[in-house]
Amino acid sequence: MCKNCKGNYYITTPIYYPSSNLHIGHAYCTVATDAMARYKRLQGYNVKFLTGTDEHGQKIEDKAKEAGVTPQQFVDKIVLGEKGVLDLWKLMNISYDRFIRTTDDYHVEAIAKIFRKMYEKGDIYKGSYKGKYCKPCESFWTESQLVEGKCPDCGRDVEDAEEEAYFFRLGKYADRIRDLLENTDFLEPRSRVNEMVNNFIKPGLEDLCVSRTSFTWGVPVDFDPGHVVYVWIDALNNYITALGYENEKYDDFDAFWPADVHFVGKEIVRFHAIIWPAILMSLELPLPKKVYGHGWLNFNGEKMSKSRGNVVDPYLLSERFGVDALRFFLLRTFPFGSDGNFTNELLINTINMDLANVLGNLVSRTTAMAQKYFEGKLVSGGEAAELDGELRALAAEVIANYEKQMDAFQFSVGLNEAFKLINRANKYIDETAPWVLAKSEETKPRLLTVLKNLCECIRVAAILVSPVMPDSAKAILDQLNVPEEGRTWEALHYCDDPESWWTTSAAAPLFPRIDMEKELAALEELKAQAAKAALPALEVEPYTDEKVDFETFCKNDLRAVKVLECVPVKKSDKLLQFTLDDGSGTNRQILSGIAKFYKPEELVGKTLVAITNLPPRKMMGRESCGMLLSAIHTEKGEEKLNLIMISDSIPAGAKLC
Ligand code: MSP
Repeated sequence: MCKNCKGNYYITTPIYYPSSNLHIGHAYCTVATDAMARYKRLQGYNVKFLTGTDEHGQKIEDKAKEAGVTPQQFVDKIVLGEKGVLDLWKLMNISYDRFIRTTDDYHVEAIAKIFRKMYEKGDIYKGSYKGKYCKPCESFWTESQLVEGKCPDCGRDVEDAEEEAYFFRLGKYADRIRDLLENTDFLEPRSRVNEMVNNFIKPGLEDLCVSRTSFTWGVPVDFDPGHVVYVWIDALNNYITALGYENEKYDDFDAFWPADVHFVGKEIVRFHAIIWPAILMSLELPLPKKVYGHGWLNFNGEKMSKSRGNVVDPYLLSERFGVDALRFFLLRTFPFGSDGNFTNELLINTINMDLANVLGNLVSRTTAMAQKYFEGKLVSGGEAAELDGELRALAAEVIANYEKQMDAFQFSVGLNEAFKLINRANKYIDETAPWVLAKSEETKPRLLTVLKNLCECIRVAAILVSPVMPDSAKAILDQLNVPEEGRTWEALHYCDDPESWWTTSAAAPLFPRIDMEKELAALEELKAQAAKAALPALEVEPYTDEKVDFETFCKNDLRAVKVLECVPVKKSDKLLQFTLDDGSGTNRQILSGIAKFYKPEELVGKTLVAITNLPPRKMMGRESCGMLLSAIHTEKGEEKLNLIMISDSIPAGAKLC
């Protein structure tokens, strides 16, 4: 353990399936974990924050095959590639201490040993599996767990499955797990306990299938080739292999296990609150101190999913609004244990109201006044008044509440506490009217104290928001030139008579206001562009099964024609009028609706193909005698057309057959 530190603290996020890029829902949990890790570091804990990727399983194997690459290449691209998982966490300022990939050698080696250990203990046995399997979720379900015959997690179709498999005797630990859930605060929020007990434990815990033979992309069972360890034993144990359990890579198991908290989304609470403790019981290891099941973020009231095309891209939002603004929005708006509804309006409103109008405004007004009235140097001295006591008392209350709420993972309430102080400070400006105090030399000492009190409120608030908005908090504290020792947890109390170390300097607005209408329109446009980019690159017309007999086909009189003249047809934005040499000695006129694809002048002199025996047709009052052949296809949702152009050495009138 480190010198002078409060102790070790181990916190984890779920490890992500790199089956496609991460969306804002994934970022939500990671931002929350990051804020908690930063908060604990601020308090003086020696924090280990683990995140990573869960890279095995059939879904990855299938997707890699579809993409024509190996599973390892497939996951490498999503994890390490441009705008991949690591890039996103870097952009979002995620301060993880360790990143595990379940394809890392040390993890693979440890999982094989763990599996063998449980097998030798008699907790894993060989049997045969009959059940319903949801491929996308990689979950087996019993008939009774299905909802209207579909996967209870994702609502998709399940398939019958039977195969030789290894099973974990989960039932053996049912009583201990029920006791853990009901009689300790292992699982939070408490509402999730009833769900676990009623839905899974009371009906009887069935043994869990822990190996598969239908795919190979997993950790091999070393004593039974052909079997790979099925996903949850592989995935859950990441929390201990990443500390060095059953491997030589790391050596922190004794220092950091049991974990202080696993943050997980609500749909995987079952795995963390039932299966994970049972695995640890089997391995005779201590249990994590807490599992916290957070809610889900929906988008405009709907579940976010790639197939619905409504996934929110954290990359895009971070780039447009700033990483801190996005982090703040996620944690301030949605109570951590409940579901939340993400909308762009809500995001922009929160940035405008809380960050631009309230926090940003307090900082810019204060620093501007300090600059204007004291050239930024707020020296010692001044004149206190009764009103100042209110700020002091509120700061003390806010700090105490904040700590309580953050310790209970209630980020939104914790931030709300910080904003009570920020709001109060803004009101204090109106009450003290510094611009009036500045008018006379006599009231200058009072003005000095007022500004120092404001700086003190800002300093305290900046420390409170720093786990959520690390860069902005630093920028604020830098503007106030707060020395390092004034930014610590120990310094997190209201200083009665702030010393003379405040020198403030104005800077560009921390949180610029966003024009709601313009921004919503820009986001819509970007969404449309992204949807277009996601369309299949090239689409060709479906082939027809209808046959045409040879004789009928030969009736088409296809000829080479040379463009003598080509002009747009007045009042039509589609039609071009061609004068063609068809080799007959008389010029032929054809109208063709291709104006959006060609400029008339670029076609003069070209040799094209025309069907010449179609009955003449009137278009915009002009006669068209035949049709020019072209090739059509769709590219990124856009229709493309190319006239069939043939070699200019082919004479006009040559028959094509
Ligand atoms: N690989 C497993 C976890 C194994 S942990 C030993 C997994 N991966 S996941 O990529 O599908 O999901 C990772 C996390 O993202 C889960 O906690 C999940 O709840 C969370 N979220 C995915 N979509 C979400 C939202 N729309 N909203 C909030 N969190 C969501 O599960």
